[in-house]
Amino acid sequence: AARTNAGPQRVLLAAPRGYCAGVDRAVIAVEKALEHYGPPVYVRKQIVHNKHVVETLEAKGAVFVEETDEVPEGAMLVFSAHGVSPAVVNAAEERGLQTIDATCPLVTKVHREAVRFAKNDYEILLIGHEGHEEVEGTYGEAPEATQIVNSPEEAETIQVKNPDRLIWLSQTTLSVDETMETVRRLRKRFPNLQDPPSDDICYATSNRQAAIKKIAPQADLVIVVGSANSSNSVRLVEVALEYGAKAAYRVDFAHQVDESWFVDAQTVGVTSGASVPEVLVRDVLSLLSEYGYTDVEEVVEAEEDILFSLPKELRATLKAHG
Ligand code: F3S
Repeated sequence: AARTNAGPQRVLLAAPRGYCAGVDRAVIAVEKALEHYGPPVYVRKQIVHNKHVVETLEAKGAVFVEETDEVPEGAMLVFSAHGVSPAVVNAAEERGLQTIDATCPLVTKVHREAVRFAKNDYEILLIGHEGHEEVEGTYGEAPEATQIVNSPEEAETIQVKNPDRLIWLSQTTLSVDETMETVRRLRKRFPNLQDPPSDDICYATSNRQAAIKKIAPQADLVIVVGSANSSNSVRLVEVALEYGAKAAYRVDFAHQVDESWFVDAQTVGVTSGASVPEVLVRDVLSLLSEYGYTDVEEVVEAEEDILFSLPKELRATLKAHG
């Protein structure tokens, strides 16, 4: 191995990591739809932001498309976990598509907040990354009433119509700390800014960040398993670095781990984003063990037992057909 120091080598494995309830449900929804209706089942956008998951479902007959107009009329279309705007729902309806909505219930919750506050004449500051599918969906619920705030810096310059009727909402997969900083800066300018009725950043995002915060100060290297377009995975790399990891990298697969990262690394932290199947973490752990990192300790920040029932369209069909 390329490692030059002589101390004990160990792995701190974050818990929780990997699949959240919303991802689990969305993946099962596509699998069940494939079993029940047979391929092809169309999916708008990546069902969850993970390469391996998408490739596995593709092999079973799922067809991933960017937009509803690529789906043959009358076919079966699944909406991804990130949610869709009403315009997309309407477009699918107009095309006569049968749809299954695999939007995570915690994303749907934010959509409902947007609708409700817009109806009550609030202006919405949606903290999130412009261009991310979830933000497009939430924004689309009330485009006239919503502005996107991408960063704490943008909070310094954004202009609002009425600072006394203002609420912030957010994407579910942001950095908790950075979002609080954005809110702090917004509130400095707009003291009457209201908070969302409950946290928009979801339990899975905050738990995964909290777990890596515990590990980071001790870690010479942190490996985050997750895809480049996975917001919560990318945030884990940033949080690890902010909390003292000497280095942190994101990989889709174990083979992307570079052996030069192990130089001088005694303690390696490992975690994975909410869209990542555990098998990919196992692959990284076995690679690590080949390099002598055989001592694996799990650092448990929280227990998660949340489960969401399947999308209602699917529940009805499965019930009717056994
Ligand atoms: Fe839902 Fe949070 Fe997962 S919003 S899809 S539970 S990362």
